[in-house]
Amino acid sequence: MARESISKIAYKTLQQSKSIAGFAHKQISSRLMNFILPDSKLENFNIDRDLLMQIQNSMDLLREEDWNDAEKNIYPKKLLFDEPWLRYLTQYPKIWLDMPNTWDRRRKQNFDDLPKSIDKDNYPQYYLRNFHHQTDGYLSDFSASIYDLQVEILFNGSADSMRRRIIKPIKEGLEIFRDRKKSSIKILDVATGSGRTLKQLRAAFPKEKITGIDLSDSYLKEASRYISDLDGDLIQLIKGNAEELPFENESFQCISCVYLFHELPRTIRAKVLNEFFRVLEPGGILVLADSIQISDSPDFTSVMESFYKSFHEPFYCDYIKEDIDSKIEDVGFKDVKSNSFFMTKIWSAVK
Ligand SMILES: C[S@@+](CC[C@H](N)C(=O)[O-])C[C@H]1O[C@@H](n2cnc3c(N)ncnc32)[C@H](O)[C@@H]1O
Repeated sequence: MARESISKIAYKTLQQSKSIAGFAHKQISSRLMNFILPDSKLENFNIDRDLLMQIQNSMDLLREEDWNDAEKNIYPKKLLFDEPWLRYLTQYPKIWLDMPNTWDRRRKQNFDDLPKSIDKDNYPQYYLRNFHHQTDGYLSDFSASIYDLQVEILFNGSADSMRRRIIKPIKEGLEIFRDRKKSSIKILDVATGSGRTLKQLRAAFPKEKITGIDLSDSYLKEASRYISDLDGDLIQLIKGNAEELPFENESFQCISCVYLFHELPRTIRAKVLNEFFRVLEPGGILVLADSIQISDSPDFTSVMESFYKSFHEPFYCDYIKEDIDSKIEDVGFKDVKSNSFFMTKIWSAVK
């Protein structure tokens, strides 16, 4: 049996430690909530041994994929160890301090508890809510300041490994433009949030022009802070709606979009796909990452069901059943491929 290198062992140990920490946090916080607020409306979700094994295997496969892609230089290996520990240190106490508000919101099913200062006319109706009972939805600096770590905890520390699954299909898709100067290639990350995907993209595409767009001022400000010290060209951040992208037709060679679709109603998902098609140059590549779906991950159906029952995710139940592959084809894309890694499904398609 081939011996594993020290750095691979270090990577796996790091991932396993994050996974244990995420799992422990969820166990402690949900027990505490059920103790303090027995009527908290949190679904009892018992993971049996078989399911636990499947989750474990699926996480191991994800880590193997992540490691192998770095070994093949699809992205630099240093990304695998790049954890913002100081940032987590400031975020973690805030998450605990905010927890009673989240519990209260969940108990009262109070989904539209948003900051009074926001102008609701500036946002679509489906957006004006506290997705996963998050304080202020996506509409405050506070929410943006703890979002990253919340996602890390939700995915047992594997969020970035899953986000990185977009890089290989993007690299393969951009091959068609290999004769062009790298600095003329434009990559758009839609619903970029607090910048985690942008950081992965910049490491893998140091010379390409990268733009991130999102509806939330606060998340864009957070992204700006997070990516401010990255090497390479400045990444552009733009406020805008994925339904009406503020760009000319055929102005990008690549579009990525991570964890947006499950938070959109079905009609809006179709509209957004049309926009992606419009702004991509012919031959350009679209890469989507979002939750796994029931059709190709039936073993995880109970995990998916518990997600929308326990968290406020009103469009998720429909999302996990929609045939997204055919929706991507319907707007004109070809070569649609999809593949799942732990809790994330990746689609790629060519215009
Ligand atoms: C679940 S977060 C994902 C953020 C990021 N891509 C990541 O990987 O963490 C969803 C993001 O989509 C943004 N969003 C939701 N609806 C949008 C829309 N119609 N147009 C642009 N951004 C939108 C939210 O503001 C939020 O930042």
